Order: sequence, then structure tokens, then C-alpha cells
Amino acid sequence: MPSALPLGEPWPENNRLQAVSTGAKSFHAYVHIPFCEVRCGYCDFNTYTANELGGIKRSDFHKPLIEEVLFSAKVLRDSNLEQQPLSSVFFGGGTPSLFAATQVGEILSALNEAFGSLADCEVTLEANPESASEELLESLAIAGVNRISVGVQSFDPCVLNTLDRVHDAGKVRAVIAAAKSLGYRVSADLIYGAPGETLESWRETLLAALELGTEHISAYSLIVEPGTAVARKIKKGELEDVDEDLNAEKYELTTEMLEGAGYGYYETSNFGQPSIHNLAYWTSQNWWGYGPGAHSHISGSRFWNHKHPQRYAVALPSSPAAGMEVLSLRQRLEEELLLGLRLSSGVRANLFDDLEIAQGKIDQLVAENLLEVRGERVLVTKEGRLLVDRMVVDFLS
Ligand SMILES: C[S@@+](CC[C@H](N)C(=O)[O-])C[C@H]1O[C@@H](n2cnc3c(N)ncnc32)[C@H](O)[C@@H]1O
Ligand code: SF4
Repeated sequence: MPSALPLGEPWPENNRLQAVSTGAKSFHAYVHIPFCEVRCGYCDFNTYTANELGGIKRSDFHKPLIEEVLFSAKVLRDSNLEQQPLSSVFFGGGTPSLFAATQVGEILSALNEAFGSLADCEVTLEANPESASEELLESLAIAGVNRISVGVQSFDPCVLNTLDRVHDAGKVRAVIAAAKSLGYRVSADLIYGAPGETLESWRETLLAALELGTEHISAYSLIVEPGTAVARKIKKGELEDVDEDLNAEKYELTTEMLEGAGYGYYETSNFGQPSIHNLAYWTSQNWWGYGPGAHSHISGSRFWNHKHPQRYAVALPSSPAAGMEVLSLRQRLEEELLLGLRLSSGVRANLFDDLEIAQGKIDQLVAENLLEVRGERVLVTKEGRLLVDRMVVDFLS
């Protein structure tokens, strides 16, 4: 089951957003495709299998998404917000590779017509290996997609099985070879820390991922989400519980092997050629999130859509938002710290003054070799990377 939405204020009746000067410079679009053939036992993302859709048809679902594009263009225009062309578009899921290329193409045309896009606009689509055929990749390239983010997860069949993934390593290699030969920028997305995964298994996965020669690799630690099949199996003793120490070793191995192979770290879990879209999230740029459950962040406001595809679709062409909040200055500064410290570029040193964080706390972390002051920036050290979320909690408590 997908997790619940936050509470918030209702969407404004006049469909206007406040113009708050936040320093955001660029505009981005996230498009959520909420369909999966089967739900993997570890995932609580907002996604639905065929029998959970309540009459919604996958083959028609680009239509409400396009309606939301038209709605968003009107909101931004009527709110008199300075409008930038798109710097990136990201089709995420769910399983966007279950959409036909024509559906993706129609959404991209609507976005381009509404906002225009920069010449080097990054257009990413998340693809599951089992549903990314060579023909689909070819048609997606023609439709305007230029980056593919492949859900590799692991090269160990036991780990793939524990995670309920239905692909195998052979399929991953074929999809990535096809995507590269079509000129796509490619990310290989990995996950570590599945129950039963050994350090050796993870090393083999990293070695195999390096052999793929993609320009980007992400490596996220498995989060055991309450209510998922994996969480239930751990509770019943059918699967091993998370071993935090082993996970820390896996993260260290990840940075050592990826950085050793020339994949520079630019964010705690991301390596190689930085993604424009990912960086937009971590630097709090403006983005509109289209689709069920998608979150938007525009001009100091955050809002989020109804989660179920049917509830979302019936709301259009009026707002499909389930709630919103206007962020206070304090919330924006806290977010700048929370997100910025995960980046290799760190945060501006005077952010700590703005947040009234005592200099002594920073000095102590510098003395422990977890933080480093470099000119006007404060960065986490290699040793500090794994502890970054805890550091932020401590700074803000
Ligand atoms: C939600 S999926 C969407 C893309 C595609 N369906 C796939 O599985 O790759 C995006 C990424 O989130 C990861 N993910 C899902 N649930 C997770 C969890 N509980 N902990 C860590 N990563 C998770 C997936 O492994 C995947 O790489
Ligand atoms: S395929 Fe991706 S989005 Fe779908 S259930 Fe699995 S991890 Fe979640």
C-alpha cells in the first residue's frame, strides 16, 4: 500500500500561487506514471497494478496528465510568476516504460507548447528492464527522451528474488547496450541492503554495474517501509532484519569502488555525470509534479496531488491538488541545509548563521573530521557522508 499524503491547507480557490522570492532559477517537470505489472515486496511508492485501478485505463492516462499540464500553465500565468523554459523533465513511477512512446511524446509536446524548453533540456524516463524493449527505446528517443534510468537493483539472482524483481542480469545488459547504442545518457540504479545480501554479493553487483559503462550510477540503501511484504516477512522472521553495520560497510565499498573507477560522488547516493533533474530537487529549484500523488515545489509553495489515479483524473480540469503549504523562511532554510549537505558542493557557510546554529557544533564536527569548511562553503567529509542525515537532525534540534 502506498503511504499517506501529508495534511495541509486546501488548494486556493482562485488557482493562484503566491510569488515568493526564493532564489530558484530554473523550472522542471516531474511526470508520475502510476502503473506497475506487479508490486515489488519492498516498494510503497504510489503505484497500482491492473486490478487496483478502478476502471482507469493505462492507454488513456496521458490525457489527464496533459490536462494537468494545461492547468499548470494557466496557474503560473495567472499568478504572474516569472516563467522559465523547462531545464529537465523526468518520467518516474511506477513503471513509465509501460507507457507507449506516443503517450510520452504527447505529454512532452504539451509541456513544450506550454513552457518551451532549453536546448539541452534533460528528458529522463525510468525504465524497468523487463518492459524496455529496443523498439520502445527507439520510439522514445524519437519522442524526445534523451536519458534512461534503468532499475537494475542488483546482479545477484537471490537478491532480485527477495525484492520480487522479475528481470535478470541478461535483460539489464541488453537494455543498457541498446540504450547506449541509441545515444541515450544512461543511469544504472542500484539498491543495497536487501535481506540476505552479503558484502561479496554487493561487490559483485558494483563490479557488474561498472562493466556496463553507464555515465551515472545511483546506489540507495533499502528502506524497510512499514506495510510492505518485506517488512511483514522480517517481522515474521522469514527474512533477515536490516544490519546497519553491514550497510555502512556496503556504502563505504560503494564510494571506494565507484570513485576509484572515476564516478565522482555528487550526492550521497549518486555518482558520475550529475543529473540536472536530481540537482534541481537538491537545490530547491521550481518544479511541477504531474500525476497522481506527485508533489510540486513552486515559488516557496509545496502542493501535492490526490493519490489514486481515478480520484486524480476526476478532479481535472480543475486542480487535482489534495493539499498545499506555503513554506516559511525557517522551513526553506532548514530544507536548504537538509538537502544541500548531501551534495558534494555542500552549503553556504552563512546558512548556519541564518539558522542560528552555534559555531561550537560546527567546530566539533570539523574536529571529528565529519565536516570541512572550504572557503565560503561547508561540506561533509567522506567519513561524514553516511552520518549526514543524523548531523542535520542534531543541528536542527
Ligand atoms: C519507485 S521505482 C520506479 C522505477 C522503476 N519502477 C524501478 O523499479 O526501477 C524508483 C526506485 O526506487 C527504488 N525503491 C523503491 N522502494 C524502495 C525502498 N523501500 N527503499 C529504497 N529504494 C526503493 C527502486 O528500487 C527504484 O530503483
Ligand atoms: S517496479 Fe518499481 S515502482 Fe513498481 S513496485 Fe517495483 S520498485 Fe515499485
